[in-house]
Order: sequence, then structure tokens, then C-alpha cells
Amino acid sequence: MSIDLTGKVAIVTGAGGGLGRAHALLLGKRGAKVVVNDLGANVDGSGGSISAAAQVVAELKDMGCDAFANGASVTEFDQVEAMVAETVDRWGRVDILVNNAGILRDKSFMKMSIDDFKTVVDVHLMGAVHCTKAVWPIMREQNFGRIVMTTSSSGLYGNFGQANYGAAKMALVGLMQTLALEGERYNIRVNSLAPTAGTRMLEGLLPQEQLDLLTPEVVSPAMLALVTDDAPTRTVLCAGAGGVEQANITLTKGIFIGADDDAPEKLVANMSEISDRSNEIVPSSGAAQGALELKKAGYKPA
Ligand code: NAI
Repeated sequence: MSIDLTGKVAIVTGAGGGLGRAHALLLGKRGAKVVVNDLGANVDGSGGSISAAAQVVAELKDMGCDAFANGASVTEFDQVEAMVAETVDRWGRVDILVNNAGILRDKSFMKMSIDDFKTVVDVHLMGAVHCTKAVWPIMREQNFGRIVMTTSSSGLYGNFGQANYGAAKMALVGLMQTLALEGERYNIRVNSLAPTAGTRMLEGLLPQEQLDLLTPEVVSPAMLALVTDDAPTRTVLCAGAGGVEQANITLTKGIFIGADDDAPEKLVANMSEISDRSNEIVPSSGAAQGALELKKAGYKPA
């Protein structure tokens, strides 16, 4: 079954280069009209020029796609609202939002300034919040929406020197978890993508023979699968070098320790059973996880 996005309108943030460019080109190739947003920032978030976004728009137009460039900074809600308003003025709807814009300010936590921490959280987390907030009422009204958060293995599993980045990236998974639930009845599906790609973000970090395999273009199919009519929701896909995996936040079966004075000792004595990963589940919500604990305590809902 081929994926056809004819008639769909997509916004890709940070699409002037790297992964965002590859996403924009694939969405266009599959028929979507594409807003190519990019501030044109350096890797650390400094500077700004819309020329990179304009270049990608030219590539899309060469392929016969409808596209326009937008230079909003995702950190500025008024600029993001204006971008979404322009999209609706031109094309009447917004079906797909790929929150991809990002920066790095890597340092060990010891050396990281509070400003480096806040700036990274602002671009990744608040940038995605702003864009998602601006399209949410439109997607609800349309009864259709597909949103991708760009998370990272740094958030899911940690990476040395990326405390700010990892925290921001994992926050996006938390945002996805709740928005997927709130969007369900409006056919808004929210997923996350943890890419690995040899973009300028990885410059100097990996040998060339690995970078040659890690092209942005081989990540974009995973993005596409998360925005189709049949897309899943609340799913985290990892993708790089043509490999794709699903990351889950699982829960062990656990035990009941009760509330007696010796509860801490019981817990410590049974740590291996608590951490036993056989029969792990993925709860359907935070409330569902809490309900499992009440059940262990013998509580039966009325
Ligand atoms: P990149 O640096 O080529 O692309 C990021 C783009 O975001 C740039 O074009 C930049 O101008 C734009 N941008 C930065 N701040 C912005 C703002 N305030 N408003 C609008 N645009 C802004 O890097 P890459 O690798 O393509 O990254 C894309 C996304 O993938 C990022 O969210 C990154 O954190 C994520 N990611 C990348 C990985 C990789 O292996 N390259 C690994 C895990 C996640």
C-alpha cells in the first residue's frame, strides 16, 4: 500500500537543513504541501537567516510541490502563531506538524551554565509546545491531525555531556503521552521519533564510514509512517542507518509491600523481584499505572 499525502498540509520546523530538510522533501514527494520553517540558526542556536529554508522550498518547487519558507523562531509564540495563520490563509488547514527544530549546547553538567540549560529546553520543549498549541485547535476542528515530536536516544537512554538536551528531549515524550490521550477523540495522533543522522549536529563525533550510513534521508521513512492516515499514536520510533526500533516505557509486574513498619525492609529484600523484567507491560496512561497499585492493595472499583 503506497503512502499518498495529496491534499495534506504539513509544517516542518527546522527544515532548512539536516533531518528537517529530508522530512520536508519526503512529505513533498508524497504529495503534501509543505511549510519549510527555519530560523537558519547555528548548531548552538545563534545567528539566523531564512536562506536555508528558501533553498529547500526551491528544491520542493523543482519537484512540482507547493511550499513556502517561514523564518519564525519556534521559541516565539507570536511568530509561530503568525506562521500557522499564514498556512491556513494559503491552504486552509494544517494536517501534519513535525516538531524538528533543535540546537545543542553540550557540556558536562558541572560546566553547563543555567543559561545553556534553559536555552536548550526553550528551543526543544517550548518550541514544540508553541507549534503544537498553535495547530491544536485547527486539528481538533478538522478532526484530523498528525504530530511528531523529535526526541532523542540522549533523552531515552542518556548521553555524556547532554543533560540539558536529554532532559528537553525526554520532556517531549511526556508531552506526547498526554497529548496522544487528549487528541484521541479528535483523530489527532501524536508520536515521537528518535533519529540518528550524520547531520552537522554529529560533526566530528563519528567516523566518516559511519556518517556515510547515517544519512538523514534514511530516517525520514520513520517520520512518514508516524503521519499517515493509519499512523499509530503514543509510539516512539528510533531510526538511523535504515534500522527502525520502537522504544517503550515499560512497567514491571512488581510486588505489594503494604504499609507496615517493615515495608522499606520488604522492598529492599525483594528488589530483584520488583525489577524482574519478565511480563513487563506498557500502561495505557498514568492513571492506569496508579490503578494497578490500588489493585495490589485489594481495592476494587465500585
Ligand atoms: P540541524 O542542526 O541540521 O537542524 C536543526 C535545524 O533547526 C537547523 O536548521 C536550525 O536552523 C533549526 N533551528 C534551530 N533553532 C530554531 C528555532 N528557534 N526556530 C526554528 N528553527 C530552528 O540538526 P539535525 O540533526 O537535522 O536535527 C534535527 C532534529 O533532530 C533536532 O531536534 C535534533 O535535536 C534531533 N536529533 C538529531 C539527531 C542526530 O543524530 N542528528 C539525534 C537525535 C535527535
